[in-house]
Amino acid sequence: MPIAKPEMHFFICNSYRVSGQAQGACNSKEAGDLLAYLETEILDRGLDAQVSGCGCLKVCTEGPVMVVYPAGKWFGQIDEEKVDAILDALEDGEDTSELEID
Ligand code: FES
Repeated sequence: MPIAKPEMHFFICNSYRVSGQAQGACNSKEAGDLLAYLETEILDRGLDAQVSGCGCLKVCTEGPVMVVYPAGKWFGQIDEEKVDAILDALEDGEDTSELEID
């Protein structure tokens, strides 16, 4: 049976290491709360998107870090305000390069 594949898939780094411990820059900057915030925003906006936490994305100094596929866009130092701006831009098909990690 085919699975439902979303149009977009967001990953927020929750700093997981091989040991399974959530440590590191993103987790210490409330990435877990941002994961819940993003999930709520996705539902409120009715976007065909999935949200997942993930392990370290190896750009810790940019944390908290979020990536979205299939666009392959990387965003750093995210907070609720920046998540809103990113979602607004993606919904409107606007350029997000000013919000992305260089
Ligand atoms: S801990 Fe998030 S990018 Fe490394």
